[in-house]
Amino acid sequence: MAVERTLAILKPDCVRKNLIGEVIRRIQEAGFTIRAMKMVRLTKQEAEGFYAVHRGRPFFEDLTTFMSSGPCVPIVLEKENAVADFRALIGATDPAEAAEGTIRRTFADNKGENIVHGSDSVENGRLEANYFFPEHEIVANS
Ligand code: CMP
Repeated sequence: MAVERTLAILKPDCVRKNLIGEVIRRIQEAGFTIRAMKMVRLTKQEAEGFYAVHRGRPFFEDLTTFMSSGPCVPIVLEKENAVADFRALIGATDPAEAAEGTIRRTFADNKGENIVHGSDSVENGRLEANYFFPEHEIVANS
């Protein structure tokens, strides 16, 4: 299997609930290597830019308001099969539909405030990582 990168974002609800450490612990325990990480407070426009593919969807306004409501923690992760494995670790978008033991099932309140984001493809992972991190901030070897 190929080594891939994916972008995770610990969302504002994760930060507010003091779950940064617990979620990163689960991510590392699952075998992911952290290649870049920081805390940022997105403006509404930055959140709209990040989620531009969802512009026009009914949840776009709530999503971008929520994502700019407090600090979040984008993290570039690396692992074999990282995109699919990370999505399995976090569970379905709606925590009520997420598998038992997943991060969203365990910690998320609802579909909108669902603790963590994960890229849906390698190509989107690269684009999303570059939204937050210039190439020189993504550390190749730890
Ligand atoms: P995320 O993986 O960050 O990508 C898009 C986000 O939109 C998703 O997680 C959800 O938090 C949010 N969202 C809110 N409502 C919906 C919905 N009805 N369908 C899909 N995504 C939604």
